[in-house]
Amino acid sequence: MERESSTPASSWLGIDEAAPFAGKKATKDAAAADAFVRRWPKVVNATLVAFIMTMPPLLILLGGGRPGAPAVWIKSTVASLAARGEPKKDVLLGGLLLPGFDEQSCVSRYQSVYYRKNMTRPPSPHLLRRLRQQEALQRRCGPGTEPYRRASERLRSGQNAGDDFVATVDGCGYLVLISYRGLGNRILAITSAFLYAMLTGRVLLLDPGKTMADLFCEPFQATSWMLPGDFPLEHFRDLGEDAPESYGNVAVNRSGSVAGLRFVYAHLDHAATPANRLLYCDDHRQFLHRVQWVILRTDSYIVPGIFLNPAYKEELDMMFPNKDAVFYLLSRYLLHPTNDVWGMVTRFYHSYLKNADERLGVQIRVFDGDEPFQHILDQILACTSQEHLLPGVVVSGHGGGVAPPPIARSKAVLTTGLNSWYHDSIRDMYWRSPSATGEVVSVHQPSHELHQHFFRSTHDMKALAEMYLLSLTDKIVTSGWSTFGYVGAGLGGLTPYIMIKPENHTVPNPPCVRAMSMEPCDHGPPYFECTKKEIDKIIDTGNLVPHVRSCEDVPWGRKLADPIS
Ligand SMILES: *[C@@H]1O[C@H](CO)[C@@H](O)[C@H](O)[C@H]1NC(C)=O
Ligand SMILES: *[C@@H]1O[C@H](CO)[C@@H](O)[C@H](O)[C@H]1NC(C)=O
Ligand SMILES: *[C@@H]1O[C@H](CO)[C@@H](O)[C@H](O)[C@H]1NC(C)=O
Repeated sequence: MERESSTPASSWLGIDEAAPFAGKKATKDAAAADAFVRRWPKVVNATLVAFIMTMPPLLILLGGGRPGAPAVWIKSTVASLAARGEPKKDVLLGGLLLPGFDEQSCVSRYQSVYYRKNMTRPPSPHLLRRLRQQEALQRRCGPGTEPYRRASERLRSGQNAGDDFVATVDGCGYLVLISYRGLGNRILAITSAFLYAMLTGRVLLLDPGKTMADLFCEPFQATSWMLPGDFPLEHFRDLGEDAPESYGNVAVNRSGSVAGLRFVYAHLDHAATPANRLLYCDDHRQFLHRVQWVILRTDSYIVPGIFLNPAYKEELDMMFPNKDAVFYLLSRYLLHPTNDVWGMVTRFYHSYLKNADERLGVQIRVFDGDEPFQHILDQILACTSQEHLLPGVVVSGHGGGVAPPPIARSKAVLTTGLNSWYHDSIRDMYWRSPSATGEVVSVHQPSHELHQHFFRSTHDMKALAEMYLLSLTDKIVTSGWSTFGYVGAGLGGLTPYIMIKPENHTVPNPPCVRAMSMEPCDHGPPYFECTKKEIDKIIDTGNLVPHVRSCEDVPWGRKLADPIS
């Protein structure tokens, strides 16, 4: 815990799929990081235009006469599931999902249950009630409705803004989530923003970025969670924490007055200033209830921080009696891959994973560079050996060699990562020599892209397919700090073995640790108590409540875990 005092401000945070950069004190690096973030809007705007232009024909294609090939594929897949004589499963997941969606437009919604393990954490009745309320709100106030038209006109004109706003106007408030950084970050952001929208009674609208529509189906019936292209706030993606509308500025410099402001900008990037992190402690009654539009930027899983806020304690306790199942339940509710992505998942699964007696996922994310590193391979093998996840091999001297043991069972290893060298090395090891246990180990990697690309559709689709494939394994080893790994483990309800990030190119000791829960880690939590809000003092928020703890891989991060009773 000694690290607490120095880490938030001065150590760099290697956020997955974002260039690692220095924290607030290193202004030069921060400026560079800002430039890095700021460069996006132009690209995104241009691509958004292209995206909108290409949308109508696509919609017609999908909505009108259903194209032959996918429908045939879907029917045959469903048929093959039935033919295999699989026992009928509760596809609606204990009421988490609603019937009545067009199944073929998003087969993963009702099919994934046949690929996953049975649910270990059922949704609580209160969570189901709150989901149904949120669905009704999204429909009543969402894009295309009169309330939305009025709200977006108010945002454009600034009329009735701020302190004059009457919350009862249409009863519709909005939370717009800015899309930025890598796919893992965006998935964590979407899931947390959805919870925050539920807690504050706001409609969640997603900045579609370039790729969102290619990745996920709509989670709500008869409405859309995508921010419409005619959203009146043109430059909202440029907003930074120095904006006059930023939460920190309103709370600290304006004493909570929102007079004259058309919206409030909530900046919860992992490196946000303490003043902006005050939002974690907001109870919505201070001033946010007077603001119809809140624009949120986050690259993190902000849920643990929200659990530190006493204002939401009672509600969250009722929604989530199991504190370690927040991402598990919300991701299953919200995140249904599109048919294209689901096709990638299921084809790979049936080709390489399905028939193995056991499946192991190994998610490799290296923050030191894209080239192969011996110490990373050593760390993977040290971890899988220490935790008995993979057998050793029998290395013979020279000449005849030992007689291979009889084949006992099969184990399929799914590796994901930017470089295929780790995959090739492990596969070679089990090809050249028999395993000590007689297990047949096969090693598979869907793709190796060598470098991260931001906002490229096919890249993101492959990345999402890989996260889903990881979630279908029986056990999983992940790389510390990686949001990609958080998502893979969390989606699958798998408590990962986390490989601690190496320092000085040496294998850490121990090479990996069993996580305390399957929940993702919040890389930018608050460091103050909500009851005191002393933002200049740094305290250990990993000890305030029993279910919010320091993360295994990021000591100043916070994650949810069910307290050991
Ligand atoms: C999963 O649930 C189904 C019923 O929905 C049951 O038949 C099956 O035995 C369960 N599997 C496991 C491994 O518990
Ligand atoms: C408050 O205002 C000052 C002066 O304009 C500015 O430098 C500072 O960043 C503001 N504080 C916050 C939290 O925005
Ligand atoms: C890494 O090397 C630096 C400089 O040689 C040293 O100060 C630091 O303690 C080392 N860290 C670890 C974890 O060994």
